[in-house]
Amino acid sequence: MIYPHLKLLKIMYKKYCIANWKMNLSNAQCREYIDTWNNKNVFNDKVKTIICPPFTSLHLFTDLLQKNTEYGAQNIFYENSGAFTGETSAIMLKELGCKWIIIGHSERRNILNESDEMINKKLLNLMNEGLNPILCIGEKKEDRLRGETNKVIDRQLSSAFKNINLNFNNVMVIAYEPIWAIGTGLNAESDQINEVHYQIRNFINKKGLKNKNISIIYGGSVKEENAEYLSKIDNVDGFLIGGASLDVEIFYNIFNKLQES
Ligand code: PGA
Repeated sequence: MIYPHLKLLKIMYKKYCIANWKMNLSNAQCREYIDTWNNKNVFNDKVKTIICPPFTSLHLFTDLLQKNTEYGAQNIFYENSGAFTGETSAIMLKELGCKWIIIGHSERRNILNESDEMINKKLLNLMNEGLNPILCIGEKKEDRLRGETNKVIDRQLSSAFKNINLNFNNVMVIAYEPIWAIGTGLNAESDQINEVHYQIRNFINKKGLKNKNISIIYGGSVKEENAEYLSKIDNVDGFLIGGASLDVEIFYNIFNKLQES
């Protein structure tokens, strides 16, 4: 379903081009990527570029990355310190200059069994620490086939935002990533994306959150070939890009498609 009336209320939200490298690229490859990226013109008022490398490369970003690009981590723990072997806190990541943290990615929900409750605790912690969340939500293929996409999205949003202060000032990104589209080469269709993004925007508005600071982006097999099409969909404020962000030239081409949209 298309929601044309939304155009009448159109607010311009900040656009984002976000790379999620997942568990890829060595430090040497990362240095090379940053060198190439730093020679590109990525200054743009409309589109903010953010790269989320593995933890082990974050220090390179502190020293080497050009100013117009920000960087973030792919996860945090919800406590600031203590006996939590293998975990990393918001405070530690702030020390490395991270401004952004991905939470709720489906790979963490499904492979590492992260619950809605944990994601809520992470969101609360990030807000308290003044970091900017990139909150991922999305339905499984079975959910969509059963006609339960909206129910799943509503559950993920309601639990993530439980006890979140309605007057927060943080900048935030919500990434709609249908799980069946991640890494599969199958991107969602315009109507499917528009409908869920509309639902998310509606949720934010009803919560009374300061919504001009919340952009809603799409993720799931974003590539050079479909970036233009996807960037023109109403209510899409940018992309979260996995596989295609590992190649610096492809990532830059996607950024360009987004800034032209
Ligand atoms: P993909 O991954 O672009 O490789 O589909 C997206 C993501 O998982 O964030």
